[in-house]
Amino acid sequence: LQSLNVRLERQNLSYEIRIGSNVRLEAGKAIRQLRKTAQRVALITNQKVFELYGSDVIRTLKDAGFSTPHWLMSDGERFKNFRSLEQAVDFLARNGLERGDVVLALGGGVVGDLAGFAAAVYMRGIALVQMPTTLLAQIDSSVGGKTGINLPVGKNLVGAFHQPDCVLIDTQALTSLASRELVSGFCEALKQSAVASRALFQQTTSFLSTLRSGKKALTSAEMEKLIAAQCKFKASVVRADEKEATNRNDNRSRRILNFGHTTGHALEAVTGYRRFRHGEAVGHGMLVAGEISKSMGLLNSSELESLREGVRLCGPLPNAGDLNQNSIIEALSHDKKRDAGQIKWVLLEGIGHPRIVDGRELSPRLLRAALRKGLEKQRI
Ligand code: NAD
Ligand code: GLY
Repeated sequence: LQSLNVRLERQNLSYEIRIGSNVRLEAGKAIRQLRKTAQRVALITNQKVFELYGSDVIRTLKDAGFSTPHWLMSDGERFKNFRSLEQAVDFLARNGLERGDVVLALGGGVVGDLAGFAAAVYMRGIALVQMPTTLLAQIDSSVGGKTGINLPVGKNLVGAFHQPDCVLIDTQALTSLASRELVSGFCEALKQSAVASRALFQQTTSFLSTLRSGKKALTSAEMEKLIAAQCKFKASVVRADEKEATNRNDNRSRRILNFGHTTGHALEAVTGYRRFRHGEAVGHGMLVAGEISKSMGLLNSSELESLREGVRLCGPLPNAGDLNQNSIIEALSHDKKRDAGQIKWVLLEGIGHPRIVDGRELSPRLLRAALRKGLEKQRI
């Protein structure tokens, strides 16, 4: 079992992240410690996750004396929308949730973002416990307080910062994940480690090597330690720049978590969100950012090779080499993380040393060459 504390001094707030195999069986006790007088824990999940883990979670909540209304949202990114939000807050109201009660989000990032946003706006904010069940959600989306929904014109355009009261991470949940979801989560883990430090990068790639050789399991102590190290890094970034201030471009601003995302989002957009899981697109995006970094003289060849090897270890990615370059460049220009109309590229000056670079510093020729090399290299 691993446990760490996220502290946000500005808000005088702290919360625990608990990581271990079968942590879900202790959820009732953990929430009772936090909320001595709460009567209800409203569970928001989806059918697939409910069938796998719902009965265990409901049992532990009941044992801790909570009543446990539950609502199953539809499964999929396209349901992270206003309609589901309306249904979620309606569910909370109909079940008489009070300000002292708790919303429990059990699922991947879609459930976490939607349930988190419902908790943020219901009665102007009630307590939220995140129980992430995908790798991506365990190392990234459940930590840091970003919640929200999509609009037809773009992803995550409406939302709120609402920090959880506690994050309970059960590594057992990873064993039922589809393999592409694991690849996607590992790409996000590699992304975090590439901007964090050589030590986290090394820990992540070594774990991936042993996992691929069959010597370590997803429920091993090493996996718990890796998730803890990833969450610790993410928490440190959130602590320094909780709301991703638009005037910050330094190498510890929250923006650095977008490494690989500029091209990643463009690849998702040009393929109509059908070809890639989000992390898979980020996997390609990291390689393009690596090529740009090398061409600008920021990253040396051996560090770029380490990055390539890291992406390979995450697992096979859907092909991106056949996509039309003009369409990708057009999609890049719509990146919603632009600042004053300019793309902010997260590049690397070395593993663990991100640098944010204004799009105007990249010549069109350099960008085209990096797209060609970055996207072709990963054909597996
Ligand atoms: P997801 O939530 O869609 O989950 C992927 C699939 O796995 C779904 O079909 C889900 O039902 C299934 N699933 C979940 N847990 C399972 C389990 N244990 N066993 C078997 N199947 C399981 O996708 P995701 O990748 O977890 O999350 C993506 C979302 O996260 C996006 O909406 C993205 O915007 C958001 N996100 C948010 C943040 C943040 O900081 N809030 C950060 C990154 C991503
Ligand atoms: N996943 C990016 C962030 O939380 O800021």
